Amino acid sequence: MKFFVDTADTKEIRALAETGLLDGVTTNPTLIAKSGRNMLDVIAEICDVVPGPVSAEVAATEFAAIMREAAVLRRIARNVTIKVPLTPDGLRACKALTSDGAMVNVTLCFSAAQALLAAKAGATFVSPFVGRLDDIGHIGMELIGEIVPIFRNYPNLKTEVLVASVRSPLHVIDAARLGAHVATLPPAVLRGLFNHPLTEKGLAQFLADWAKTGQHIAEAQPAAAR
Ligand code: E4P
Repeated sequence: MKFFVDTADTKEIRALAETGLLDGVTTNPTLIAKSGRNMLDVIAEICDVVPGPVSAEVAATEFAAIMREAAVLRRIARNVTIKVPLTPDGLRACKALTSDGAMVNVTLCFSAAQALLAAKAGATFVSPFVGRLDDIGHIGMELIGEIVPIFRNYPNLKTEVLVASVRSPLHVIDAARLGAHVATLPPAVLRGLFNHPLTEKGLAQFLADWAKTGQHIAEAQPAAAR
């Protein structure tokens, strides 16, 4: 499963990229607004740090305007993924852009029917928002459980299911169990995946016992060299 980080905070992205576990980045207009920076500058900086797909969302809603914005965003870097809304104009743009070799992430997907349309439009990724479905009393993850098997029925569909609006490590595990290709995680959720109290407790014990030996591996010499 690929892990993307869902943020426009370049400091966070740099730190997480250092783990070597980051496959891509997603942004949206809300996250760009939160960064307080110019969108094109932020996307360019992210693309420099992360070689994988970096989603940059158009703000236009009408086909010709989406295409104009996409042209600007595509010029930033080769790994820019154009993010378009799941609307008739968005999907028309998706088809045109992917036919022209661009990567496209179709966002704001809330039903299996919508996901199927995105796949038919040649989307590189379709983003079902599980957390926002949970918020209105649906079980968001059930949508992933619908979309993944549908896509599996049609091996010619190359669209990857990108689980978005992720709120907890449990969402990530459930999405992985269901076979989703990608999950985009807020930085705190991605960091949360590392944590387990027994790891911390076990490490503290090992370090305490090691300190008692007085040894230092980096300065140690094997018996043959002594
Ligand atoms: C990612 O592409 C989406 O924009 C994002 O995951 C939405 O998350 P939210 O519902 O927490 O805003």
